[in-house]
This record gives sequence, structure tokens and C-alpha cells, in this order.
Amino acid sequence: MGQDAFMEPFNDTLGVFQCKLYLLLFGACSGLKVTVPSHTVHGIRGQALYLPVHYGFHTPASDIQIIWLFERPHTMPKYLLGSVNKSVVPDLEYQHKFTMMPPNASLLINPLQFPDEGNYIVKVNIQGNGTLSASQKIQVTVDDPVTKPVVQIHPPSGAVEYVGNMTLMCQVEGGTRLAYQWLKHGRPIHTSSTYFFSPQNNTLHIAPVTKEDIGNYSCLAKNPVSEMESDIIMPIIYYGPYGLQVNSDKGLKVGEVFTVDLGEAILFDCSADSYPPNTYSWIRRTDNTTYIIKHGPRLEVASEKVAQKTTDYVCCAYNNITGRQDETRFTVIITSVGLEKLAQKGKSLSPLASITGISLFLIVSMCLTFLWKKYQPYKVLKQKLEGRPETEYRKAQTFSGHEDALDDFGVYEFVAFPDASGVSRMPSRSVPASDGVSGQDLHSTIYEVIQHIPAQQQDHPE
Ligand SMILES: *[C@@H]1O[C@H](CO)[C@@H](O)[C@H](O)[C@H]1NC(C)=O
Ligand SMILES: *[C@@H]1O[C@H](CO)[C@@H](O)[C@H](O)[C@H]1NC(C)=O
Ligand SMILES: *[C@@H]1O[C@H](CO)[C@@H](O)[C@H](O)[C@H]1NC(C)=O
Ligand SMILES: *[C@@H]1O[C@H](CO)[C@@H](O)[C@H](O)[C@H]1NC(C)=O
Ligand SMILES: *[C@@H]1O[C@H](CO)[C@@H](O)[C@H](O)[C@H]1NC(C)=O
Ligand SMILES: *[C@@H]1O[C@H](CO)[C@@H](O)[C@H](O)[C@H]1NC(C)=O
Ligand SMILES: *[C@@H]1O[C@H](CO)[C@@H](O)[C@H](O)[C@H]1NC(C)=O
Ligand SMILES: *[C@@H]1O[C@H](CO)[C@@H](O)[C@H](O)[C@H]1NC(C)=O
Repeated sequence: MGQDAFMEPFNDTLGVFQCKLYLLLFGACSGLKVTVPSHTVHGIRGQALYLPVHYGFHTPASDIQIIWLFERPHTMPKYLLGSVNKSVVPDLEYQHKFTMMPPNASLLINPLQFPDEGNYIVKVNIQGNGTLSASQKIQVTVDDPVTKPVVQIHPPSGAVEYVGNMTLMCQVEGGTRLAYQWLKHGRPIHTSSTYFFSPQNNTLHIAPVTKEDIGNYSCLAKNPVSEMESDIIMPIIYYGPYGLQVNSDKGLKVGEVFTVDLGEAILFDCSADSYPPNTYSWIRRTDNTTYIIKHGPRLEVASEKVAQKTTDYVCCAYNNITGRQDETRFTVIITSVGLEKLAQKGKSLSPLASITGISLFLIVSMCLTFLWKKYQPYKVLKQKLEGRPETEYRKAQTFSGHEDALDDFGVYEFVAFPDASGVSRMPSRSVPASDGVSGQDLHSTIYEVIQHIPAQQQDHPE
């Protein structure tokens, strides 16, 4: 009678209040409350199961009667045992299985078996000023605990990305009412465009596999009384190569061009993500011909040995399981201007030495140019003097050298030497050298030189 109203947690004050409320609403109050901590209890087969019950009342009582009944769906309730005060009256059929210690109304079931699964009803009657009665129902389930699941993977040898499928099967030897859950990195997996579950969830099908499916998988099997997780399994998925790139220990990389100082050995490292690891090969391109120069992820280029300043290389990565390959091309430029020959003899020049060398070259070139310009008119003169006797020529040459060495001052002193032939006017008249040469005596030879000097630096002395 009205037991449902008393399913709430209970203490004395609250119970009295509820009783008063119940009185107001329904005009009756038993003053007796029976409570159970849980209306569902999961038991393990073969073990003892304790069904705790609490009750309390607010009237004087002479007799306290406790009755336990058992009912299964679609069957009649069965009497298990009962008590008045402290004396227990069991059903003889079950007397070794059920135990109660009145006035404690809790029931001990030992051992619990599968047929014990069902609803247990406890009814408490209080005999005092009238009879008070209340009851509760507890649902009991019986299960075997789960054993540790084992995951089998198919195909065990692995699958190729985007080509192959993979099936993970979770196998559990013992346990009832099993529910399966698949975990990746410890987090539950949900159905997606590539993840499919069997109706019981004990099989996970991945179709097709991708690189993203690589991870730590485990199967979690559970039932009401236990849960167990399998060992972690990592499916083998073949993929790649992806993200092929070439790096070097030295040199300057701009895009696909490496700039290397002459004389430096540079180590190139080719890497790409793939499983299984790629096989790498290096190809050098010169004009139209290509050579495979090395196998393996690393290539050393000693720049002294590079015949050309610019060389194209290709690194090729090949995954022999997926059958896919990728290649990247890059250019190595050996930087050095006009000094390859030196370097090829095995000398390595610092940049400072190069600059010094170039500077020296420029200075010498400028000096030579200056001297050439300065002597160019003299060379013309010399050609015209070639027909003369050698003695005269030698004198002229000697005087020229003298004049050159002493600069302007010495020239004027010399001009004053011949007299009585209007020498003082001769330099200012600027007689062409050809005219002077036509005079075939010693004096005129001297004049030629004098006339030449002023033609260049005529204005400075005066
Ligand atoms: C139960 O105990 C009460 C008081 O302790 C007593 O009056 C009553 O007679 C007992 N009932 C039975 C059936 O023994
Ligand atoms: C009933 O007995 C069990 C032990 O058998 C004990 O744990 C529990 O506290 C008792 N309940 C009451 C209400 O005394
Ligand atoms: C018993 O109940 C009657 C009415 O139900 C009441 O008048 C009487 O006082 C009660 N006696 C005790 C001892 O509570
Ligand atoms: C992978 O699964 C898809 C769809 O389930 C199927 O069409 C395909 O044939 C399977 N591939 C292999 C290699 O089993
Ligand atoms: C299978 O798992 C999904 C979630 O992953 C869940 O929604 C579903 O109820 C499960 N099915 C069974 C039979 O356990
Ligand atoms: C996967 O498992 C391995 C060892 O079983 C562990 O080293 C690794 O850290 C795990 N990875 C993740 C993402 O949990
Ligand atoms: C390189 O090949 C192209 C066509 O493949 C050809 O036109 C060109 O003449 C070749 N150059 C050399 C240096 O062999
Ligand atoms: C694939 O390459 C690996 C090295 O990365 C090698 O060990 C393996 O034997 C190769 N397999 C085949 C089938 O060529």
C-alpha cells in the first residue's frame, strides 16, 4: 500500500514531514518507511550477494514481521523466508541459500546463481496500534565477469593506404552480457565514413585505411560487473612518401637553390615520411644526361670536384610497398668569381684574399693604361726614327729619358743650349714633330724632343 511514495532517501525529520504530507493528501499514514540503497543490484555468479534494506517507524510496535519474496518475469512470486521478531521461518527449499538476521531486514544470497536473477520483494509489517505495512523491490542481475579481450587484426601483415582494408576483432573468452567499445589512444571511436562496427561492436572494420588510422587501438569489453581492456594493438599501414625535402648541413638555401662556397664539402640529407622507410636515390643532371650517383638518404658533394658551377640534382624517394615515389629537384651553385683555377689546384682562398687579388689586378691595369697613354705619342715618334743611324736614335732616346725623369723644369734648361738659331721661340711655335724630323743634324734631333714635351704640357710651365 503506497510504497512508491516512500522511495526517497529518508531521515527521521524528513520522514515525519513526508508522513504528514501523505496524510494530508491521502488521509492515511503508516508511519513505517522501508528503503533500499539501490533498486538494481548486479551480482557475480558463484559469489554471495547482499541486499541491504533499512526500515523505520514512528509508532509503538509489538510484532515486527519481515517477508522476502522472489519473482521472475511471467512467473508467480515465490516465498523465500520470513520472520517475526527474531525468529526466521525459511522456505525449506531455499533454506541454505538465503539468510536474514532479524530485526535486520537485509538479505544475503549465497551462492548466487543464474536462476537467482529476478526481482526480490521485501515486505515489513509492524503490529502495534493497528498494522503498518511497507515493501520494496530490488532487481538482481547475475553475470560472469569479463576476461581480458584479445584483439585480432586482419590482415596481420598490414594494409596499403587507400588500397587496403583492415578488420579488428575483439575476442573475449568469458563474460556475460558483453558490450564492446573500441578505443584509439584511449578515447572511444565512433562510426565514421571509414569506420564500421559489427552489430555487437566486437568488430571494427576500417575501409579504406589511411595514414591517420595509425595509432594505438584497444578493445574494451564490459558487462554490469566488470570491464577489461585489451592490450594495445598498432595496425600496420603502409603509406608515403610524403613531404619529400632536401636539407643541407651548410650552404644557403633559397627555394630549390643551394649556394655553396667553393672548396666546401656539403652534405645533403633527403627525407620523406613513409612506411616502410623509403629507398632514396640521387641523380645528377648534366646537360641532357642523368646519372644515378648514389643510393641512400645522404649525399656529399665536394665542390672542388664539381666541374660546373651550377649542377642540378634530383633526390628520388621510393616506397617499395606502396609502390609510390616522389622526387625533388634542386640546384647547387658553387659561388666564386674568376678564381676557379686557383681553387681547382687545391688552394682555398678566403674572400679577403679574393678582394685583394682583384684590387691588385685593377691597380696594375690602371697603371699600365696610364703609362700606355703617356708613351703613345713617343711610340709614334720612335717608329719614325727607326730609319735613322743607331747612334742618333740612341741619343734621342737618352734625352727623352732624361726629360721624362726631370719633368718640366729640366726641359727648359735644355732648350736654352743651342743659340743663334732662334731657339727661344721654337717651343712656343709648336712645330709639328714631322717637320723637326726632316732636319737631319744633331741640333734638330734635340729639338724634336723639346717640341714633343711642350706639345703635351705646354701650358704648365708658363
Ligand atoms: C515479539 O516481541 C514482542 C515484544 O518484544 C512480544 O510482545 C511479542 O509477543 C513477540 N511476538 C512473537 C510472535 O513472539
Ligand atoms: C544488517 O546486517 C549487516 C551485516 O549482516 C550490516 O552490515 C548492516 O548494517 C545491518 N543493517 C542494520 C540496519 O542494522
Ligand atoms: C491507537 O489508534 C487510535 C486511533 O487509530 C488512537 O485513538 C489511539 O490513541 C492510538 N493509541 C496509541 C497508543 O497510539
Ligand atoms: C575494402 O572495402 C571496400 C568497401 O567495404 C571494398 O569495396 C573493397 O573491395 C575492399 N578492398 C579490399 C582490398 O578488401
Ligand atoms: C556500438 O557502439 C556504438 C557507439 O560506438 C553505440 O552507440 C552502440 O549502441 C553500440 N552497440 C552495441 C550493440 O553495443
Ligand atoms: C602508443 O603505444 C606505444 C607503446 O605501446 C607508446 O610508446 C606510444 O606513446 C603510444 N602512443 C600514443 C599516442 O598513446
Ligand atoms: C637536350 O634535349 C633536347 C630535347 O630533348 C634537345 O632539343 C637538345 O638539343 C638537347 N641538348 C643537348 C645539349 O644535348
Ligand atoms: C623494401 O625496402 C626495404 C628497405 O627500405 C627493404 O628492406 C625491403 O627488403 C624492400 N622490400 C622489397 C619487397 O623490395
